[in-house]
Amino acid sequence: MFQPAITGTGVFTPSEVITNDELVEAFNAYATLHNARNADAIAAGDALAIEPSNSDFIFKASGIEQRHVIDKTGVLDPEVMHPLLRQRHDDEPSLMCEMALDACHKALKQAQIEPQDIDLVICAASNMERAYPAIAVEIQHELGAGGFAFDMNVACSSATFGIQTAADMIRSGSVRRAIVVNPEICSAHLEWRDRDCHFIFGDVATATILERRDDAQGPYFEILSTRCATTFSNNIRNNNGFLRRSRPDGVKDRRDMQFMQNGRKVFKEVLPMVASHMLAHLNDEGMDRDALRRLWLHQANKTMNDFIGKKVLGRTPAPGEQPNILQDYANTSSAGSIIAFSKYSDDLLPGDHGMICSFGAGYSVGSVLIRRQSSQ
Ligand code: COA
Repeated sequence: MFQPAITGTGVFTPSEVITNDELVEAFNAYATLHNARNADAIAAGDALAIEPSNSDFIFKASGIEQRHVIDKTGVLDPEVMHPLLRQRHDDEPSLMCEMALDACHKALKQAQIEPQDIDLVICAASNMERAYPAIAVEIQHELGAGGFAFDMNVACSSATFGIQTAADMIRSGSVRRAIVVNPEICSAHLEWRDRDCHFIFGDVATATILERRDDAQGPYFEILSTRCATTFSNNIRNNNGFLRRSRPDGVKDRRDMQFMQNGRKVFKEVLPMVASHMLAHLNDEGMDRDALRRLWLHQANKTMNDFIGKKVLGRTPAPGEQPNILQDYANTSSAGSIIAFSKYSDDLLPGDHGMICSFGAGYSVGSVLIRRQSSQ
């Protein structure tokens, strides 16, 4: 058995930013247009008027201040209200592959290894640009990596489930070096015309290199153990499957093909699930919560993360103990906890412990218990 370690991470951040104020201005322009165009139906009680959105509400309810997106032009055009992403030809790299490569190269640089050293590529994300060939195989090809590659989808928990999968393969010896990559084009599955959720998501890609501990070239994080769990729930759902052409009642509805959630229920049900999962994971390892120097949590909602941090640590986390990045990135699905880890982990000292934890649709929750080690 070999001991797996995280030796590098990389983040691709799209250059375009949408602030809450820009978002709300576009949404409210869309709502005004919609309400004017449907004035008769609204007056007759056959349609509902769209209420305006509000920046203060967005910040207070979520902690989000802005989001990065691949294309803001379409999203902010009241006549469009979705990103305008050029359809790729079959003989050019997919957008997910392009975003992934940037994150992969940054992670490889940090790990001080070459693409050809990699013998497993897992593309773990909430949405795949196509069914097959796997985006991961395309990334493997474009990188020039060896071995094999496959896609997996566990929604917001994809990164930690991917890390567990790769860590188990490294432990057993079936692979030597893996890259788990999370390209998330959340802007394309978000309904920007829905006031309840139009502020939630942003785009990003993250990559995490896993190697045998003994192969690490620089400082690294030893993976002590991983835990994954799922419990079925319909409260976060996306029906965009290959059999879905229209709703069962025959109505063609783009809304049905996108992210849907019952945010209140998610909040109430996922919180206790995540806190008890993390505490049980620690307990299984015979570790006290006081030993944790840092929590890198899934980034969906600040209040939710504050609550989980408090429950897991048994006190209010000190500044920096549970870093949030969602104020800058919004919810980036599986990539959120890895952005937080990538940006806020270098300062940990040899022997310090931390836990990466992601959670979301399924429901699903995955945790990775790690220990900082200096170069050997
Ligand atoms: N602007 C202004 N008001 C808004 C609004 C907006 N954009 N969106 C909703 N509101 C209103 C609602 O209509 C509601 O009004 P009412 O009280 O008169 O009915 C009120 O604000 C509260 O709405 P609600 O949806 O209950 O807000 P919330 O406090 O639950 O916050 C979320 C919404 C989505 C931010 C929150 O539930 C959440 O983060 N849940 C967990 C999400 C999560 O982790 N999902 C996983 C996805 S991967």
